[in-house]
Amino acid sequence: MRVLVTGGAGFIGSSFVRYLLSHHPDDSVLNLDKLTYAGSLENLGDVEDDPQYSFMHGDICDEAVVGEAMGRVDAVVNFAAESHVDRSIQSAGAFIDTDIKGVYTLLEAARKRNIGRFLHVSTDEVYGSIENGSFLETDPLDPSSPYSASKAGGEVMARAFARTFGYRVLITRGSNTYGPYQYPEKVIPLFITNLIDGQQVPLYGDGLNVRDWLYVDDHCSGIDAVLRTGTPGEAYNIGGEQERTNLELTHKLLELLVQGEEMIRPVKDRPGHDRRYSIDTSKARALGWCPQVGFEEGLARTVAWYQENESWWRRIKDGSYREYYRQMYANR
Ligand code: NAD
Ligand code: DAU
Repeated sequence: MRVLVTGGAGFIGSSFVRYLLSHHPDDSVLNLDKLTYAGSLENLGDVEDDPQYSFMHGDICDEAVVGEAMGRVDAVVNFAAESHVDRSIQSAGAFIDTDIKGVYTLLEAARKRNIGRFLHVSTDEVYGSIENGSFLETDPLDPSSPYSASKAGGEVMARAFARTFGYRVLITRGSNTYGPYQYPEKVIPLFITNLIDGQQVPLYGDGLNVRDWLYVDDHCSGIDAVLRTGTPGEAYNIGGEQERTNLELTHKLLELLVQGEEMIRPVKDRPGHDRRYSIDTSKARALGWCPQVGFEEGLARTVAWYQENESWWRRIKDGSYREYYRQMYANR
C-alpha cells in the first residue's frame, strides 16, 4: 500500500508512521502535516532517511495540497486534528477548521479519486460519559466538549459521505492514549515532566474521573488491523481496558518518580468534565487485535522515556508553552 498519513508528526501519528515502516516494509508512507504547536519532525528523526518515507508540509483544509497528496497514494489514515480538550474550551475555532472542515476536504478529495481505503481516526470521547457498563459502536454520539463535538462532526460527515455517495470510510474510536512523544499538555506527560522538575501536579476536581488507558503501540496496531481487515463503513472501538481514576494514575506516577502526596495540587475542575469513559472492544478483537501492554508496564516505560529524553520535552516547555501553562493553571 501507498499510505497517506495525515498528522504524522504528532504523538500517535509519528508512532503509526514508525509502525507501518517496521511492520509493512513494502508499504510507502507519505506524511502530510501542518506542523502546528503539537507536531514536530523531531518526532520522526529516526525514519527521515527511510526511502519508503516522505514528508509534505501542508494543511488538510487546503484542497490543492490535499489533492496533490491523494494523487500519490491508495490509502489514507487521518490523524490530523486539534486534540486537546482544554484548548478547545479556551477557543474552538481551530478545532472546527481541522476536525470538521479538514475531514470534509480529505473525504471529498478521496472519494473523487476513488481511494480504496480511508480510515478516519476518531475518539471514544464522541460517546460522552458513561456511569456503568461500556459503549458499543452502535450507541449514539453524545459529545460534551468543543473538541469531542468537532470530532463527532468529522465522523458524521464521513457517515454522510457513505449514505450520499456510497464512499464507505473506516472509523476507529480510540481511548486515552499514552507513551513516548506525547505533548506535555496531556495529563500523563504533564504530570511526569512536572514531577521530574519537582513541580506540583494540577489534579482537576475530586480526581475521581475515570479514563481507559491505551499504550500508543497498541493503538497503532489496532488502527492497522482495522485499516487492513475492517469492513468499510464500520466503526471500531480501540481501548486498553485499563480503567483508572485520575487519582490512581497520579499515585502510580508519584510512586514511579519517588515523590509524596504533597506534590498533588487539587485545582478547579474542567468545565463539562466527562466522568467516565469506557468502550467495549469486542468488535476490534474479533479482527484478531488485542492490546499487549498493561497499564503498569506502559506507565513505567513512559516514565523512563521522559527521564531519558529530557531535551525533547524541555525544548517544548521552555518555549510558548510557558504562556499556555500560565493561562491554564496560574489562577486555578
Ligand atoms: P497531536 O495533537 O499530538 O498531533 C496532531 C498532529 O496533527 C500534529 O502533528 C499537528 O501538526 C497535525 N495537524 C493539526 N492540524 C492540522 C492540519 N490542519 N493539517 C495537517 N496537520 C495538522 O494528536 P494525537 O494525540 O497524536 O492524536 C492524533 C489523532 O488521534 C487525533 O485525531 C485525535 O483526535 C485522535 N485520538 C487521540 C487520542 C489521545 O489520547 N491522544 C485518543 C483517541 C483518538
Ligand atoms: O479519550 C480519548 C481522548 O483522550 C482523546 O480523544 C484526546 O485527544 C486526548 O487528549 C484525551 O482526552 P482527555 O481530556 O481525557 O485527556 P487529558 O490528558 O487532557 O486528561 C485526562 C484526564 O486527566 C481528564 O480526566 C482530565 C484530567 N487532567 C488533565 C490535565 C491536563 C487533570 O486532572 N489535570 C490536568 O492538568
